[in-house]
Amino acid sequence: MEKNTAEIIGVEVQQSNLGSYEEARLAFDWTDEEKRFSWHETGQLNLAYEAIDRHAKSGLADKIALLYSDPEREESYTFEQMRQESNRAANMLRGLGIGKGDRVFIFMPRTPELYFTLLGIVKIGAIAGPLFEAFMETAVRDRLKDSGAVAIVTTPTLAERVPAHELPELKHVILVDASKPVEKEAAGAETDKGLLPEDSPFADFHALMHEASTEADIEWVEREDGLILHYTSGSTGKPKGVYHVHGAMVQQAYTGRIVLDLQPDDVYWCTADPGWVTGTSYGIFAPWLNGVTNVIRGGRFSPQDWYETIQRNKVTVWYSAPTAFRMLMGAGDEAVKQYDLSSLRHVLSVGEPLNPEVIRWGHRVYERRIHDTWWMTETGAQLICNYPSMDLRPGSMGKPIPGVEAAIVDDQGNILPPLRMGNLAIRTPWPSMMRKIWNNPAKYEEYVRIPGWYISGDSAYMDEDGYFWFQGRIDDVINTSGERVGPFEVESKLVEHPAVAEAGVIGKPDPVRGEVIKAFISLREGYEATDELKAEITKFVKEGLSAHAAPREIEFKDKLPKTRSGKIMRRVLKAWELKLPAGDLSTIED
Ligand code: PRX
Repeated sequence: MEKNTAEIIGVEVQQSNLGSYEEARLAFDWTDEEKRFSWHETGQLNLAYEAIDRHAKSGLADKIALLYSDPEREESYTFEQMRQESNRAANMLRGLGIGKGDRVFIFMPRTPELYFTLLGIVKIGAIAGPLFEAFMETAVRDRLKDSGAVAIVTTPTLAERVPAHELPELKHVILVDASKPVEKEAAGAETDKGLLPEDSPFADFHALMHEASTEADIEWVEREDGLILHYTSGSTGKPKGVYHVHGAMVQQAYTGRIVLDLQPDDVYWCTADPGWVTGTSYGIFAPWLNGVTNVIRGGRFSPQDWYETIQRNKVTVWYSAPTAFRMLMGAGDEAVKQYDLSSLRHVLSVGEPLNPEVIRWGHRVYERRIHDTWWMTETGAQLICNYPSMDLRPGSMGKPIPGVEAAIVDDQGNILPPLRMGNLAIRTPWPSMMRKIWNNPAKYEEYVRIPGWYISGDSAYMDEDGYFWFQGRIDDVINTSGERVGPFEVESKLVEHPAVAEAGVIGKPDPVRGEVIKAFISLREGYEATDELKAEITKFVKEGLSAHAAPREIEFKDKLPKTRSGKIMRRVLKAWELKLPAGDLSTIED
């Protein structure tokens, strides 16, 4: 086990919201955090209200909430404008008969319309289902079907991947022209309120928004009412719908304050897409619950573009991921020197292990420590973190936030002493914890199988000073560029290809992406193992499932290792790949 506690990079930000970590832990009480919200006094609760309307009504109306740019558009919206646009979206959805508890999906590029829509969904008490833009038909269908979604807001191009005819519960496909701001004249204005004739599910977003009033009644909900469904991957079965509730706001706001260290004048940039949990919990909720200016950058990654975004907007707090930092490191020190990044006060990372090397590099070139944070789709918000006011040990995820207890436990739930590796577990509950897996109570039970604990699926150890160190996943879940991919979903797609008899998928260590997807495939009779076939199979997954789930490497095998019950042993494939001993083979077929 790698132990690296000797290296410490001390604090550089003396003034932070948290102050002393130890004192904060001792004094902490979640009810104090609840008192910061207006619902604590009014009893009227809705996350979108707390994130937007509350600020628009209490002196921040003209403050910039959203600073948007992509290669074609550059716009900004105040909290008051966000209030109005999200009201329009709420009215648009209500006008279609959508209401509390309905699942409404969003499948579109990161533009202001996405943010208005998501807030509009939340305002009417419906449940938002954001989808990553790269998903192809199978991935989209699985998620819409499982959740019983009634509507999807998407673009004309992406709508081609929405098989509406196979989804009887899907009543509305609302089309957004992503190149066009809402305020511009509506394209579909000539159709009646943007609705196409007869029983067509299609509707025109711009026309409906144009018609809709900027005033709307908020649907007041309970803390335990549904907010958002994020589909994520496990090692078996289809993706699962992780269900979060409005009450999550308490922890999202709190960690925004003490981990992101958000302060009133900050300009904050989270680089994640709302299709992933980081892009909602920390790309939407945490910054706006704290009344902070939020930068959204559309378009693709490029080091120049990213540095330019920081320079132009004078970003002060920047939240990104190890793969991005490794790519920036790969782009070199010279790229950094061409930009003025002196506005940066606080830099953070999430999603995969953050290499000590990257922290050292960041410290040298940005003159800032990159603060690692650990959490998961299921946890809804950050749990184990490095705080601005805390010494940082490169390679460690940090310490649990005040109000949360983390431990390393064995499979029976016994707490292990420091330096012993085991299951990373969190004492249940905490405010932003998922409340269920949609349609799948048995899956949920797997996480809480040890009474009193949530079992994360990560293995880790704690050092003598209470810092946690990530060691790996216990299951076969793949983490490529910080995106979670379930091997089963990829394998299922692979075997749909006519040439593929059997497929086993693993994560192969990669210096930039953390892991890349590697598929072992046995072919059907009559197919030849050629490079052309490899390329064709890769394309098949790219176009059927999504680009990030397509194997980067394929190896053909005559036979794959299987248990006697016919389950492909990914563990053995991994051992082959890493040239390690395969371990216990007593269950292997022959
Ligand atoms: O294995 C851990 C890894 O990402 C998993 C969660 O993935 P996802 O639900 O997609 O959420 C990512 C962003 C919240 C975890 O089980 N992971 C996340 N953060 C870290 C990490 N691994 C190491 N260090 C981290 N800081």
